[in-house]
Amino acid sequence: MGRLQHVGWFFSRGFGPQGWGREDWRWGWRWTDPRLYQQAVRELEQAGLDLVVMEDALSLGSPETLHLRVREAYGGPKHDPLLLAPYLFDVTSHLGLAPTVNAGVTPPYLAARQAATLHHLSGGRFGLNVVTDTGSARHVGAAPLGHDAAYDRAEEWTDVVRGLWHSWEDGALVADPATGRFADGDRIRTQRWSGAHFDVTGPLNAVPFDGLGDPVVVSPGGSPRGLAYAGRNSDVQLAYAPLDAGTVRAYRARVLDAAAAAGRTADDVRVLFVLKPELLPSREEADRVVEASRHPDEAVLLQVAAAQSSDLETDLTALPLDEPLRASAFGEHVSQGTVRGLLGKEGELGVDTLRELLTRKARKGRLSAREGFVGTAEELADFVEELGEDAGNDGVLLSGDLHPTTVHRVLDDLVPVLRRRGVLREGYGDGGVRGNLFDF
Ligand SMILES: Cc1cc2nc3c(=O)[nH]c(=O)nc-3n(C[C@H](O)[C@H](O)[C@H](O)COP(=O)(O)O)c2cc1C
Repeated sequence: MGRLQHVGWFFSRGFGPQGWGREDWRWGWRWTDPRLYQQAVRELEQAGLDLVVMEDALSLGSPETLHLRVREAYGGPKHDPLLLAPYLFDVTSHLGLAPTVNAGVTPPYLAARQAATLHHLSGGRFGLNVVTDTGSARHVGAAPLGHDAAYDRAEEWTDVVRGLWHSWEDGALVADPATGRFADGDRIRTQRWSGAHFDVTGPLNAVPFDGLGDPVVVSPGGSPRGLAYAGRNSDVQLAYAPLDAGTVRAYRARVLDAAAAAGRTADDVRVLFVLKPELLPSREEADRVVEASRHPDEAVLLQVAAAQSSDLETDLTALPLDEPLRASAFGEHVSQGTVRGLLGKEGELGVDTLRELLTRKARKGRLSAREGFVGTAEELADFVEELGEDAGNDGVLLSGDLHPTTVHRVLDDLVPVLRRRGVLREGYGDGGVRGNLFDF
């Protein structure tokens, strides 16, 4: 039997048109209707998943490239995942939910109060995926900050949020019908935080989390500053899954070193790797899909170009396929990391044609060869087990939208296999999301 691991869901591309661009759209679910997501999360809970991290970008991006985001709904429209959360809590009992919150946009007092409310309403199942995207600042009249400064602000924000959650000392909440005394105001602290970015006075108008523990803090940034933030603040650190145990081990070590530097231990942080498997019923079928991906037709290349165009804020679909892609094709504001993502290990600007780059991007790899995420449920379970055994990994988040067909495609065969191998929980404790993540 394998070692139990944590399994969750990364709700990628967030609360937007689920199934758009796929035949699944014809199922007729309305993406603005909570019943679509309710159907999906019931299945996630039946599967024994710990939590759902809900991606978000609150902005549609810069006006010049708006059309690239909305054209195929790659970057928007998106509704606010925080407001979807209560609908999902209502139809589940154990599953945790961590919507994305931008620490540069939501004022900390408001975030602390919203989180406290949802944590109570859900019986301790709430978390916050704290991000530092600075492009949205203009929507709230804030000055955009540089990369590290945005993390500094997020750190201050998190301190204030946590401080507010603990405004009420032990014994402040009395709730004694015999005396008619509800609370003791002398035990509620009126703290003030006055820092570089926030000037906030408490106390928080919410009751304490007696017995529930705080909402969990999730973070996805992988830069040195991002990891320092995680080491000090996060209960869960996310990263995209590499394909080998050595890289997982090294990444975990960096997170745990950052936690140790902040006076915390490995028991205080869970590192979860996000992966998007393409699961097929047989090895032969998986081989066939990978082989076919080596010869993408024009339609597939256009699809890849469209998907890349949104993130790159550059319309690749309008560029000639058979000419070298030059640096001048991109605006100055485009993220160099995203450009490197398009180029991959082998690609070179000004040398490779767009067709060559997109063809490489379209190429899939077999899980069994550790070259990609196409495989059978047994092969994915082998991989997850290997990361657990060889790299001490805590677990994985399966990535996809919340269209019910996606959930079934990923979980139908995988859940029984992971359960048989002792990797996936058979049932839940009653410790809320904190219990889900830290009971083992
Ligand atoms: C798994 C994962 C999930 C992420 N989810 C979001 C998200 O929902 N919203 C967002 O604005 N950024 C998201 N990001 C981006 C990070 O917040 C961060 O901006 C990015 O990783 C760059 O930060 P870094 O320079 O510290 O690595 C995500 C990143 C990763 C790896």
